[in-house]
Amino acid sequence: MAVRNETRVTEFLLLGISSNPDVQIIIFVMFLAMYSLAIAGNLLIMITIYVDSQLHTPMYFFLSNLSFIDLSFATVTIPNFLANVLKQSSTISFRDCIAQVFFLHLFGGAECFHLSLMAYDRYVAICNPLRYTTIMNRQACLLLVVSTWAAGLFHASAQALPSSQLPFCGPNEIDHFFCDALPLSLLACSSTFISETTAIINSGLITLICFLVVSISYAYILSTVLKIRSSEGRRKTFSTCASHLLVVTLFFGPSVFIYMRPSVKFAGDKMVSVFYAIVTPVLNPCIYTLRNKKVKSAMKRLGGRKVSLLEMQKN
Ligand SMILES: *[C@@H]1O[C@H](CO)[C@@H](O)[C@H](O)[C@H]1NC(C)=O
Repeated sequence: MAVRNETRVTEFLLLGISSNPDVQIIIFVMFLAMYSLAIAGNLLIMITIYVDSQLHTPMYFFLSNLSFIDLSFATVTIPNFLANVLKQSSTISFRDCIAQVFFLHLFGGAECFHLSLMAYDRYVAICNPLRYTTIMNRQACLLLVVSTWAAGLFHASAQALPSSQLPFCGPNEIDHFFCDALPLSLLACSSTFISETTAIINSGLITLICFLVVSISYAYILSTVLKIRSSEGRRKTFSTCASHLLVVTLFFGPSVFIYMRPSVKFAGDKMVSVFYAIVTPVLNPCIYTLRNKKVKSAMKRLGGRKVSLLEMQKN
């Protein structure tokens, strides 16, 4: 192989979502609003669950963890994108780009495993109610949560390390609004077959495994729910699971679309990324709070507590 006279790329240019300035302003305002909502909603959930002792059960701890993951996931891509629109420049250094790939997959992977964990938790609670407290004891919960993070860490390293080893000699334009392993590998000047394949297999396999765990858990849950005699009990159980299933669909739909196919570019890719980068983190807290009576009443109590504190200060 001939050695080419190459200059190494040290910066990338993120082309963003649209080059039309008017469209850019609309997108900026929309993203800013959605990001603020994601921060506020998820923080509110975490605070409510932390403060209210009635919500100190595994399901709500997992929910709180999910909010933390959602918050971090949105923070990896959105603030940088907003800053780029403001600065009117969209360069990102090689190091930051790799860091973005790493954290994107750390939180994305953690979310994926966490959704499986929540499905498993519901499976035990509904199909094995008598043994629930022994199976989901404090230690087991902690171990499960730590495992989801460990798995996320492993997944993220397996995505970011190969990307960081790719040689880049130009062009350096990434047709996306954040760095991800696949768009990056399209720019490498060596054969990217191996790195592309590992990226796809890694993400695709993980998405598939989580999806299977979730589907199997809910299949069991569904068959148990259908056997419940009282229609009130059936409705209640069903309603909890319906909100979980909605969240799961919102997350896996786009992931499957992006990762579980050969790396041909689709025009819809960026829109799908917008969906999972920002829409999912906003919708998760909405779905859980709007549908969950216990969380709603805990939030009311939280509000009441604040009011009484203020009144105490006045007196
Ligand atoms: C995450 O889950 C663990 C285990 O249930 C819990 O101890 C911890 O408080 C949770 N963390 C957050 C931020 O909710």
